[in-house]
Amino acid sequence: MNMNDIIGKKRDGGKLSPEEIEYVVNGYTEGSIPDYQMSALLMAIYLKQMDKEETFHLTRAMKYSGDVIDLSQIEGIKVDKHSTGGVGDKTTLVVAPLAAACGVPIAKMSGRGLGFTGGTVDKMESIPGFQTSIPAESFMEQVNRIGLSVIGQTAHIAPADKKIYALRDVTATVGNMSLIASSIMSKKLASGSDAIVLDVKCGDGAFMESFEDACTLGEMMVEIGTADRKKTIAIITDMNQPLGQAVGNSLEVIEAIDTLKGRGPGDITELSLILAGIMIYAGDKAESRQQGYDMAKEALESGGALNKLAEFIQGQGGDPAVIKDYSLFPQHTCTQEIVCHRSGYVYKIAAKSIGLASQHSGAGRATKEDSIDLSAGIYLHKKVGDTVAEGDVLAVIYGTDAEKVARSAEEAEKAFVFSKEKPKKEELIKKII
Ligand code: URA
Repeated sequence: MNMNDIIGKKRDGGKLSPEEIEYVVNGYTEGSIPDYQMSALLMAIYLKQMDKEETFHLTRAMKYSGDVIDLSQIEGIKVDKHSTGGVGDKTTLVVAPLAAACGVPIAKMSGRGLGFTGGTVDKMESIPGFQTSIPAESFMEQVNRIGLSVIGQTAHIAPADKKIYALRDVTATVGNMSLIASSIMSKKLASGSDAIVLDVKCGDGAFMESFEDACTLGEMMVEIGTADRKKTIAIITDMNQPLGQAVGNSLEVIEAIDTLKGRGPGDITELSLILAGIMIYAGDKAESRQQGYDMAKEALESGGALNKLAEFIQGQGGDPAVIKDYSLFPQHTCTQEIVCHRSGYVYKIAAKSIGLASQHSGAGRATKEDSIDLSAGIYLHKKVGDTVAEGDVLAVIYGTDAEKVARSAEEAEKAFVFSKEKPKKEELIKKII
């Protein structure tokens, strides 16, 4: 087989065979295919697309480029949940204890944040002592014992995707539906769970800005998962403003704890109950999504899910006292308020701009090597649809570097758009596939 011919075939709109796709993925991962040829092929795929069959074979080839985790030592139907990424999305920290409290084993691998989106691993590391890297035996033992463990994804999961994603990032080829679907699904399928619930974010703070694109991506991932014999369900949810009020690592963990105490923001609470309900249903612990939702609500109201969070934190070396005492989290040393200069309604809060402002306060990284300030971030005191008057505090920026906090405040202020009339409410849950 010859890489030049494969590039030419895709450039001319041809369909790549499973053997050709495997040849490319294996050759690029082991280094026999150079970056310049892979870049040319990625651009040809970007421009000429891949069909469903090609996308499925690309996913499979990337899945098998590294370790495929065997979770058979864990009893029951293991259910994973994945979000395509958003701003203020701390749902894993709420949903995982909710589902686990209802008997669904959660053996999950999560990632770190990059750019304007956060990552669950960074958030968990704001809990003093919490270990996100533990041996495989301890991971499985913890899931069998308490029903829940979340660790960082190792470099051995879908290494082909890791290498290809880095190249896509610098060759303007990230935004292709087949490349995104195969990238996400190769990692999910290699992580070993029996069922996968996908939260596909849609809006200005997400990869997919339009509802149509989000549906296409959701459908594609559901087809890939189903073809790999995993029960796969996608839910399309709004990301036109940040989720909840907190953006930034320890701020988000505190909001997740508050949610499990029954006093979280309405959007986080509702989305978490719906996602947990779908997971409980996918894990065969409920006969319908509605019954799953009701079970999750009961776990929230009874305190069962909060207890599960405490067990989870303790199991991974963290200090469960953070649940009662938020001063144990990394502490900020500076703050800056964003004050409103007019009256009316909040019409829009550009999620991506808030994500970037949070990153610049110190909460996120521009490159994988950057260190982060776990205390930094933004707390939104007003959300879309709220009334505002002159002098109201719209948001507060937190951090430990006054210059970064000031720059972040300047950026975050520009994310707010106001109107005289009350804006139409966006549906939080747009579709379930
Ligand atoms: N997340 C991924 O893991 N891969 C993509 O291509 C896009 C989002």
